[in-house]
Amino acid sequence: MQPESLRSEELFFTVPLTGWSGGEPFSQSALTALEQGQIISLPELGFPLNAKEMRCLNEGTVKKGRKNISYRALSGKITGVAHPQDEDLIRGLLQRHHQACETLVRSLLPHYTGALHTPVNTLRVHPVTAWKKGSSWRKDDTRLHVDAFPSRPMQGERILRIFTNINPHGESRVWRIGEPFTAVATRFLPKTGHYSPWLCALQHKLGITKRYRTRYDHLMLGLHDAMKSDAEYQLSGLQLEVRFPPGSSWICFSDQTPHAAMSGQFMLEQTYALPAEAMADPQRSPLKILEKLTGALLL
Ligand SMILES: [Fe+2]
Repeated sequence: MQPESLRSEELFFTVPLTGWSGGEPFSQSALTALEQGQIISLPELGFPLNAKEMRCLNEGTVKKGRKNISYRALSGKITGVAHPQDEDLIRGLLQRHHQACETLVRSLLPHYTGALHTPVNTLRVHPVTAWKKGSSWRKDDTRLHVDAFPSRPMQGERILRIFTNINPHGESRVWRIGEPFTAVATRFLPKTGHYSPWLCALQHKLGITKRYRTRYDHLMLGLHDAMKSDAEYQLSGLQLEVRFPPGSSWICFSDQTPHAAMSGQFMLEQTYALPAEAMADPQRSPLKILEKLTGALLL
C-alpha cells in the first residue's frame, strides 16, 4: 500500500536568506510557522568550509563507535574526535558554526534570544545508512519519530535544531516528514506504557538518567517508541519525502515535527533547549498538547 502524502506547503515555511543575519523581515511569520510544527526551510543558506576543514569530511575523523563529534560552546568541550591533531581545527569549525547559529537566531527568531540554552553543535560525517547497521529499532532514525532521549529527560523543555547540509559531493539529505504532533499523539498515546515514578526516581539516583524522568518524558519516549515500532505506520502513515540539498539549512522543533533521516552524509547541527514558557504560544508545545489530551498535569 502506498503511503498517503502530505503537501510540501503544509510542512515548510521558506525563508530566502543567503547569509546568517538579516532574518528580521521574516521573524514574525517564521516564529508562528515553527511553533505550529512547520520546518523553516533556508534553501540558500549554506555554511562554507575552508580547504583544511574540508579534509576532515571523512568517516575517519570521528572516534570509532561514535555517531558524531559534539561541541559544547559554553565550556569549549569537544568530544568524538578520533585524532588529537584534528581537535583544534574541528573546534574552530564548530565554534564558527555556533556563532553563525546565534546570529541567525538573533535576527530570525529574536523572541527566543536569551531563552535558548545548553547549545550543542554536532558534526555528522557518517552516511545515514551506516547508523542503521546493527542498531536496534529504537535507535533507528530512518523510522519516523519525534525526538525524546532515554537518558536526558527534557522535563517539558523544547528541542530546537538547526541543520545544514555540508555534503561536498552534491548529495542531498533525505528525510521523511510525518503528520502534525496532535495527530501523532492522539494515535499513539494509548500505546504508551505504564508510568512508574518510583522506577524513574531510582533511574535518576543510579545515574541512568541525567534528570528525573517526568510523566511528560515518559509519554514522549512512549510516542517515540510506539511510532518506531509500528511497521504499518512507517509504511502507510501520512508522510512526505523531502530533500535538503548541500548548501541549504532548515530549522525545526524536533520534539514536535515527526521526521526520519533516510539518506545523506555530512551535516552540521545546532541543538538548543528552550523552556516551553519562552514560546510565543506555549499552548502549542508538546507538553500542553499532551496535557490537554490526557487531562492531566504532566510535570
Ligand atoms: Fe530525530
